[in-house]
Amino acid sequence: MSTQQDPGPAQSGLFRTKNVEQSIRDTEEPEYALKKTLSALDLTVFGVGVIIGTGIFVLTGVVAKQTAGPATALGFVVAGVVCALAALCYAEFASTVPVAGSAYTFSYASLGELPAWIIGWDLVLELALGCAVVAVGWSGYVRSLLGNAGASLPDYLSGTQNGKFGFDLLAFLLVLALTAILVAGVKLSSRITGIIVAVKVTVVLIVIVVGAFFITGSHYKPFIPPAEEATAGGGLAAPIIQLMAGYTPTNFGVMGIFTAAAVVFFAFIGFDIVATAAEETRNPQRDVPRGILGSLFICTVLYVAVSLVVTGMQRYSQLSVEAPLADAFKSVGHPFWAGLISFGAAVGLTSVCMILLLGQTRVFFAMSRDGLLPRTFSHVHPKFGTPYRSTVLLGVLVAIVAGFTSIEELAELVNIGTLFAFIVVALGVIILRRTRPDLPRAFRAPLVPWVPIASVLASLWLMLNLPAETWLRFGVWMVIGCVVYFVYGRTHSRINTPR
Ligand code: ALA
Repeated sequence: MSTQQDPGPAQSGLFRTKNVEQSIRDTEEPEYALKKTLSALDLTVFGVGVIIGTGIFVLTGVVAKQTAGPATALGFVVAGVVCALAALCYAEFASTVPVAGSAYTFSYASLGELPAWIIGWDLVLELALGCAVVAVGWSGYVRSLLGNAGASLPDYLSGTQNGKFGFDLLAFLLVLALTAILVAGVKLSSRITGIIVAVKVTVVLIVIVVGAFFITGSHYKPFIPPAEEATAGGGLAAPIIQLMAGYTPTNFGVMGIFTAAAVVFFAFIGFDIVATAAEETRNPQRDVPRGILGSLFICTVLYVAVSLVVTGMQRYSQLSVEAPLADAFKSVGHPFWAGLISFGAAVGLTSVCMILLLGQTRVFFAMSRDGLLPRTFSHVHPKFGTPYRSTVLLGVLVAIVAGFTSIEELAELVNIGTLFAFIVVALGVIILRRTRPDLPRAFRAPLVPWVPIASVLASLWLMLNLPAETWLRFGVWMVIGCVVYFVYGRTHSRINTPR
């Protein structure tokens, strides 16, 4: 039986869309179908598992010290609001098109093939690059723990430090180990994730509850430090909005809160990944929106509390940029808690890394199933029910990137890629409401089109608060993606070739 829809004249161009019913049917072909084993609780655990990570454990200190002071908590609120708006859009889309691939699949069903390809390509920045960045952050924590135990790795295997190159052996090995776990099956991964998430959340709660006893009120004065000229922030390193507005780049002040928000946004990345697991969920219509909004809400509350506590424990200008949470406890004379927090951070970053990699393999899988990437990568393992070929390929690539990468420049590139995806998804919600009002939507975003429009504007605002050089790198990556599409994807697309 042919399941191919008549493409029709409108389907031959760059904006040909993949029929939503077709997307759902694709997931039912046994050879390409993923197992449906996840519940709402699994999804929430997945969400929290990937959301809490380098952002809160590392970037809080960087941002408080360099751009926002105690007002970093406000930066988290701003980023949380941007994500909540995007989450409503993601939840509607995921409950309408519950198949693997997240923003990529959603855009294919609404905006068309070229925008979908662009999104899929863009998600590599968020997922694969994000995974590499977190792996490098993890290896830093593990080295610091090794140091506590009197052990150390030679410099040439300890990653790039102070501009001196070193291969990051620990980050490389972590990604390879996680790849093996993912090939063995999602259920196994989610069980391991559950334990890790418990450790991580416990550590975050310890920071909040124990740390609250060491807050010094005067550290909050001034809560929003006055704006000061950015010493290292001139030129391409300055937020593009400040350059466009034509004034001297500054840190702190009210604009500093937005600069901080654009960076700590990294701490929220991951809630959208809950949507990428929609196809593996038993009851996606009900559970995916619950998983996304639930995990986002829990994390926002924890982040605001953690940043308030940490900037209350230690003057913002004194915070450490490598392990700010742990070092704040050292600064008040409690090394035991500091060690425990370092341990929890190292454990916690493992799950972030794993779920980012999982999200990347699922997007890659969906793109391959559609023929935009070689079809061989969408075969599912006969025993494990996982897309093992794409998992192994991506795992090895990410491990190599992690081995050779340093964190700083890349986190901002991850943010811009993710915010761009948010914009496309929000536009997709508006378009799909118009083009396919008939589709059942288990979750409907409120106040459409106003909420999606607000989501677009809010995401764009954070993007504009990222450095000009980040915009440049983003542009180069997207141009490469367009070339790949026109050379390969356009002609191999499954919509283009009858089955
Ligand atoms: N949100 C994740 C983190 O903070 C990516 O590490």
